[in-house]
Amino acid sequence: MNAAAPPDSEIAAFLAAQADKDQLRFITCGSVDDGKSTLLGRLLYDSKTLFEDQLSATASESKKYGTQGEEVDLALLVDGLQAEREQGITIDVAYRYFETDKRKFIAADAPGHEQYTRNMATGASTVDLAILLVDARKGVLTQTRRHSYIASLFGIRHLVLAVNKMDLVGYDQEVFERIAADYAAFAASLGIADVHMIPISALTGDNVFEAKGEMPWYAGPSLMALLEEIDIHRDDLARPLRMPVQWVSRPDLDFRGFSGTIVSGTIGAGEKITASLSGRSSTVTRVLGPSGEIQRAQAGQAVTLVLSDEIDISRGDVLAAPDHLPEVADQLAAHIIWMDSEPMLPERTYLARFATAHATAQITDLVNRVDVNTLDRLAAKTLDLNEVGYCKVALDRAVAFDAYDDDRGTGAFVLIDKFTNATVGAGVIDFALRRASNIAWHDMKIDKAARARLNDQQPCVLWFTGLSGSGKSTIADRLEQKLHAMGKRTYVLDGDNVRHGLNKDLGFTDQDRVENIRRVAEVAKLMTDAGLVVLTSFISPFRSERQMARALMEESEFIEVFVDTPLEVCEARDPKGLYKKARAGELKNFTGIDSDYEAPKNAEIVLKSGDGEPDELADQIIAYLKARR
Ligand code: ADX
Repeated sequence: MNAAAPPDSEIAAFLAAQADKDQLRFITCGSVDDGKSTLLGRLLYDSKTLFEDQLSATASESKKYGTQGEEVDLALLVDGLQAEREQGITIDVAYRYFETDKRKFIAADAPGHEQYTRNMATGASTVDLAILLVDARKGVLTQTRRHSYIASLFGIRHLVLAVNKMDLVGYDQEVFERIAADYAAFAASLGIADVHMIPISALTGDNVFEAKGEMPWYAGPSLMALLEEIDIHRDDLARPLRMPVQWVSRPDLDFRGFSGTIVSGTIGAGEKITASLSGRSSTVTRVLGPSGEIQRAQAGQAVTLVLSDEIDISRGDVLAAPDHLPEVADQLAAHIIWMDSEPMLPERTYLARFATAHATAQITDLVNRVDVNTLDRLAAKTLDLNEVGYCKVALDRAVAFDAYDDDRGTGAFVLIDKFTNATVGAGVIDFALRRASNIAWHDMKIDKAARARLNDQQPCVLWFTGLSGSGKSTIADRLEQKLHAMGKRTYVLDGDNVRHGLNKDLGFTDQDRVENIRRVAEVAKLMTDAGLVVLTSFISPFRSERQMARALMEESEFIEVFVDTPLEVCEARDPKGLYKKARAGELKNFTGIDSDYEAPKNAEIVLKSGDGEPDELADQIIAYLKARR
């Protein structure tokens, strides 16, 4: 060791201080024009987090793309992607890490434009604080309000309004105070309690790391001082225990532990917990951390708990403080931000993922849409990309959760498309709904099997799907005649017929078709339960809803029959003259013309129009049914 090196004890102290340093996660909101990238660059530069090679690379690129002449353009430090540099915009959420003596920081940098609202939501859901950047020359803009709303929706409790470019308004106190007053009124209407306003210049560094004397009238802390001092941790630890169970570890018969990350509160050996789903309680006998047994664990730590009793707990359950239990319900009200280019359709089923639980979910009611720019509540039938709606959601099983306001870790969920596996929405829970909680299923003495025996047949659903004019109803009609002659008890549910009664309130928008099929699937299920052979004849254009219908029945009961007649053939037949009208623009949302048909990929039976007359095609189905039984 050379003489100048610090003694071991000092190094140890330094390392201990590093490990102990707490972390602040924040998001910066604003556009390139507001100087967001420059501000982040300034924070990285002044905190000496940048390495020499990054700096020299930036210096040479500054000459190529920069907007600051011969000066190092700090914005280039953070605009990581080549494409962004050339277009001068920031696209995705990028995370930067830096630190000072007091704290470590993770900065999420989300793009500002409205089409990136979902990116911002993604970043916002994991941070403690948001820095909203405004240009002193422009003041609070629509965009600032939108960012503030998303920040508050996603539970960010600390907002910093950084009024940037003070150098361009002559460091004028009045300009700052006008903007501050304007924003304070707006923030109050959102109910955000902790709001700080700081006049800065990201370019010159004034009030970013330290006050540089250009604004002596400002008595508050610099941005960095505020980020270092602001108290954010208190919340997590003071809240009641929540530990969503990630997995149950059972390496041998003597050991059973419940593993997961504590999202709030603390837990120690000897303390009681309750398993939320069953409501049963037990005492923690051991707390195991990553490197062995510990006395206590707290929010943020991944642990395994061993309990004194054998109680039923599985993945998705939430271990909670017995005197402060989460909600357990299969319905909830939530704000949902839609993140997919395909619109959200009420009544379609999605996969909902909670902290560790998952369930099948349906938006049963889109109560209203929130205009993210004006905060107005508007009537809406669907949600498009980046839109926020207040929704009622039904789950296929009870899940333990909290209101997002009470706990961000257990109060959020994402919606996933069952086919593409893409995340299509993010929800923040408002409260649990208990509409259906007092309705039980009543088992009857005469059941499906008894009815099937009396009918001397195996009940099933033959689900015909295909374009309008493909021949579904004609084939179904022939098939029913044949089955009838064989003594089978049948019923045809036909698209046109059902729309005269049960579904006469529905049209042909995507959401109406989803509801049409949902109702028909439920009726088909009841008829199957009644012991009938059910034939349904609906375009049923969407894979999702056909899958939903299939999932309602028992596995062997659902037989999908794809009447695979090409569009040209259907259009040439045009039995009702509807294709002609659709081509003329007199009929909107016509399947195959301006509304999608998603052809089945795994239908049990595929009928090609070229393969024969309806009579022969009906025989093909009979042959299939006979072969199966
Ligand atoms: S589905 O898409 O919701 O399954 P459904 O099978 O009930 O449709 O109804 C389709 C029938 O409604 C068609 O055969 C046609 O006669 C009629 N129809 C009227 N308007 C439309 C439209 N815009 N798109 C498709 N079919 C329509």
